[in-house]
Amino acid sequence: MAPTGAAGLLWYHGEAALARAANVTGIPYCLAMSSITPLDVVRREARGQLWLQLYLSPDAESNRAMIERARHLHFDALIVTVDTVVSPNREYNWRNGFNLPIKVNRRNALDLVIHPRWTLGVIGRYLLNEQMPRMDPIKRDERAEWSAIKRIRDLWSGPLVIKGIGCTEDALAALQTGADAIVLSNHGARNLDSASSPLALLPEVARRVAGRLPIWVDSGFMRGSDIFKALASGASAVLIGRAALYGLAAGGEAGATRSLALLREELDRCMAYAGVRTIAEIGPQHLQSDALATTV
Ligand SMILES: Cc1cc2nc3c(=O)[nH]c(=O)nc-3n(C[C@H](O)[C@H](O)[C@H](O)COP(=O)(O)O)c2cc1C
Repeated sequence: MAPTGAAGLLWYHGEAALARAANVTGIPYCLAMSSITPLDVVRREARGQLWLQLYLSPDAESNRAMIERARHLHFDALIVTVDTVVSPNREYNWRNGFNLPIKVNRRNALDLVIHPRWTLGVIGRYLLNEQMPRMDPIKRDERAEWSAIKRIRDLWSGPLVIKGIGCTEDALAALQTGADAIVLSNHGARNLDSASSPLALLPEVARRVAGRLPIWVDSGFMRGSDIFKALASGASAVLIGRAALYGLAAGGEAGATRSLALLREELDRCMAYAGVRTIAEIGPQHLQSDALATTV
């Protein structure tokens, strides 16, 4: 499951609920460092593979401290996200009043009034048991070079994944740093409206990387058949972000588990229609190139 910061605003301790949903489904959960739920609470509640996502800070000591924390809490893998070098301009956040640090303002106060189930069930529970949900702005290393990833590689001996690769050159550079996998991603087109499509990029990256590094992908995979297309185009895994968040917002752990079950059922059905029994059998022979072109 893809890292999604602030999932705890959709459900009380939402990150822990997502971790349980992922783990009961049999997939790893990647916790975003911008988690509302404390890292140790998620660690306690997770039932399987738990990974941590990191943004590079310009302060080497913060990076080191975060990695030390990940080691101390026995996170199973580290995902470093490299596609958010500067703050994205999310116009919807001007309208909905979401800002960091989280504060009550005129716009979101209205949301508190007109969504009483959320106000009592989520925000109210935080206020009762802890405090107002907190999430601080992220300090970004706007000048990071590949050498910064090499330093992380030296500090973290576990599996290291680079997320947010948007071109073939960077996929090849990630390979040189000793990463264990890459995620082609445009952050769900939430950062830059004209960022390249990871699915369109996938066949070329797969050809150039040629089996030397597992290629994962995310951004807009909402159906099992979307996952099938990614696997057929050369990905060995697909990360799921918003599809699981919608389930979480609707029904907590049970809702997120249901979202994942729907995706699995759809993928199964798509495999049956394509006449394959296993994931390993899915390949480029199942794609009709002009059909792919219309979907990306
Ligand atoms: C609410 C939200 C918060 C996110 N926060 C993070 C984050 O903290 N770190 C990160 O690497 N990606 C973050 N992402 C990006 C996701 O990991 C993922 O790349 C993106 O949502 C595309 O996948 P999807 O189309 O399945 O949602 C976030 C996405 C969403 C929707």
